[in-house]
Amino acid sequence: MPIIYFDQAASSFPKPPTVANAVAKAINEYGANPGRGGHQLANDAASVIYETRVKLAKLFGEKDPKNVIFCHNATHALNQAIMGFNFNKGDHILSTSYEHNSVRRPLEYLKKQKGVKVTYLNSNHNGYISREQLLKAISPGTKMIVATHGSNLTGTIFPIEMIGSVCKEKGITFLVDASQTAGILPIHMGEMNIDMLAFPGHKGLLGPQGTGALIIKKSVELTPLFFGGTGSHSEEKDQPNVRPDRYESGTLNTPGIAGLSAGIDEVISRGIDNIFQHEWELTKYCLERLQKIAGVTFFGPDVDIKRLAVIPFIIDGTDVQEIAMIFDQHYQVALRAGLHCTPLAHETIGTLEGGTLRASFGLYNTIEEIDQWITMVEEIKESLMG
Ligand code: ALA
Repeated sequence: MPIIYFDQAASSFPKPPTVANAVAKAINEYGANPGRGGHQLANDAASVIYETRVKLAKLFGEKDPKNVIFCHNATHALNQAIMGFNFNKGDHILSTSYEHNSVRRPLEYLKKQKGVKVTYLNSNHNGYISREQLLKAISPGTKMIVATHGSNLTGTIFPIEMIGSVCKEKGITFLVDASQTAGILPIHMGEMNIDMLAFPGHKGLLGPQGTGALIIKKSVELTPLFFGGTGSHSEEKDQPNVRPDRYESGTLNTPGIAGLSAGIDEVISRGIDNIFQHEWELTKYCLERLQKIAGVTFFGPDVDIKRLAVIPFIIDGTDVQEIAMIFDQHYQVALRAGLHCTPLAHETIGTLEGGTLRASFGLYNTIEEIDQWITMVEEIKESLMG
């Protein structure tokens, strides 16, 4: 029986064949160092990098591709954005109670090391935050709002457009963690007043792992996380000021970025709206089926509220790791169980103690797979609970 892969929130799989072909082509045909030589192969590599930068800028509504900084993953991008920002003692950062550890841990570090104040704003269970609630949480010291666009635990979608407009009005820097939404929901940095956008390449953008980016608006200045060779201004002993070089020390992941470029092409040719629609249909169908099974509890927004294709659930009275193992070893279904690197979101929904299982769907999953999976859930539930 083929594996049913319902762990798309962790990494999308399978990738389009064009992604693997692009990676192989980069390795086999032009595996030189982009920007580190004037020869033909180095230029070919640099062209692929540049084209990918242009595609990402266009996709996310940023005018200047030089503001697209390639990173190893979204965690790297978020660390560059948070740790590189010029916070002073007493500054305030406002965030949400659904953040991943990639946001929470840097914030907690700044709290301890720099005396920065951090608050985590709660939404209602559907992700609703009112403008008034947000305005109330802002203080004169608020320098940054960091918000996830969509929860990796519950799929809850947050009102980043509204948050962006408040940030603009108040002169607050707005950082969005689009780890779960890049390639799945429309994002336009200009229209949504997003100052920094962090995302991975290996989830909704269908690229290889080890890719990601931070897009930094021109008006935001960060201290680089890394200093070193940039292939430019080599005569200067200080890190260059020009972008993207300032934030891209060391050889880039050319094969990964070439694969990411092919992933973006696939997303564009299918259409982001169509991708979300497909994933939402799978999710809604699955939720409707799950809610008919007594003894299965799931969490997140109401069934008819649009969410990302992520469903956290438990089979009442059972251990989530044990159930994940049964799915894996008996049924060949890949799910993720535990705290999903977001204890904060688990605390928010009341599942911190035992964690949950999480089923997450993607572009290539089907209604037939969900039907098969629901039968398995029923079987497991019957055999364990009667
Ligand atoms: N953040 C990823 C997840 O949700 C890895 O599983």
